[in-house]
Amino acid sequence: MADADTAASKSYQADVAQPKEPFFLKGSNHLDWGLKNRLANIFNPESGRTVMLAFDHGYFMGPTSGLERVDLDVVPLTPHADTLMLTRGILRTCIPPTYTGGIVLRASGGPSILKELSDEEIAISIDEAIRLNVAAMAVQVFIGGEYETRSIHNMTRLVDMGNRHGIATLGVTAVGRDMARDAKYMRLAARICAELGATYVKTYYVDDGFETVAASCPVPIVIAGGKKIPEADALQVAHNAVQQGACGVDMGRNIFQADDPLAMIQAVRKVVHESFKPSEANEFYLALKKEREEQGRS
Ligand code: R5P
Repeated sequence: MADADTAASKSYQADVAQPKEPFFLKGSNHLDWGLKNRLANIFNPESGRTVMLAFDHGYFMGPTSGLERVDLDVVPLTPHADTLMLTRGILRTCIPPTYTGGIVLRASGGPSILKELSDEEIAISIDEAIRLNVAAMAVQVFIGGEYETRSIHNMTRLVDMGNRHGIATLGVTAVGRDMARDAKYMRLAARICAELGATYVKTYYVDDGFETVAASCPVPIVIAGGKKIPEADALQVAHNAVQQGACGVDMGRNIFQADDPLAMIQAVRKVVHESFKPSEANEFYLALKKEREEQGRS
């Protein structure tokens, strides 16, 4: 039998209004609870930013440098990432299910580096994404590419599937080899992804006018790291991007191909979450690298 409710007076606090907290992430205030909860597992609610560790490259490049042994070389980095961006094959085989950060699953694929890269299809079912408990699905969008329309259609179908279940969609702008990587292109590509429903968008940083790319995109932008460059330069790029409106980085090669990947990901965190200046972050990187070398680095 249920207990009788005998309290003489109750604390309804009728004079205290219920808080109406806006959601911390750009353009996301009107999303449903589940989607917001998943986004809060990608972006840190305190800084509003994310360090996504991207190592999905094998889906078209095979075992590229730094990803030959994900189990040995990348898994140790994962505690320092807010989110992992990867394929379902690597997720199932290498990532311990005890990992509690966000999972952003590569959801498109098809061609290898030997073929026309824009010729992609959706490469996952929504059942599988739900089964893997992912926070977001990532799809390549090839604006100006040979299969531009199909890649957009892949994205809009994933947006429809994801929205039904509260799973975010990351529109990944893929720039063809012969295209200009400038602000004009990034504005066009990012805006198309956002207009057609992407929950957030990945672009590349551009030196001239990146703030216009971020400002004209109504959803959060994260930047890819791109080809490996010196660590100090990669930290500078990450710094510039977040200071000019990016909500974080989705960085792969500039972390897992760094001289010391474990030190590098921690330095990137300092830039993204603690707004370290690039020089401070580089000093942090070099000091950590030295310390680890002295300890015989693992
Ligand atoms: C590339 O197609 C993949 O989606 C990568 O996740 C992305 O490019 C980020 O990796 P990186 O920083 O190496 O460019």
